[in-house]
Amino acid sequence: MPVLDSSKIVAALRGAFAREEGREALLRIAAEKIKAAGPPYTSVYLYMLHGKELLLEAFAGRETEHTRIPVGTGVCGTAVASGQDQNVPDVRAVENYLACNAWTRSELVVLIRRGPLILGQIDIDSDVSNPFTPDEEAAVRQVADALAVLL
Ligand code: SME
Repeated sequence: MPVLDSSKIVAALRGAFAREEGREALLRIAAEKIKAAGPPYTSVYLYMLHGKELLLEAFAGRETEHTRIPVGTGVCGTAVASGQDQNVPDVRAVENYLACNAWTRSELVVLIRRGPLILGQIDIDSDVSNPFTPDEEAAVRQVADALAVLL
């Protein structure tokens, strides 16, 4: 069983959408509820694609100086450039990693896609090494897929 209970988070997002809460609220709810799952989820960042840049639109956890990331830069920008989710078990092994703090050990980026379109991504930092199993990744993808429909 994954740590993340995605069905609860998807239900909360649908509820917010039904109450006509906007994009900002939906992204904030996703960030806060994923972080609330606790370890290995340390910090959660919602970067949305604007042209050739990812802009930080919501987060929960530690602040980051990386509020704008060009496509192709870092783990986040690589996900968009390659069209592939990124599961990095040890960030110290990644050459183009953009560090936000000294404690992060691993990172998971799951793209928010609507058909062929990439809308943005859920970026998760963990203080634990290699915590994101295929089940865990699938749970995050459920949240990303819900956002793709509701945003
Ligand atoms: N580590 C990311 C940058 C974003 S911060 O983790 C919030 C990267 O390498 O793209």
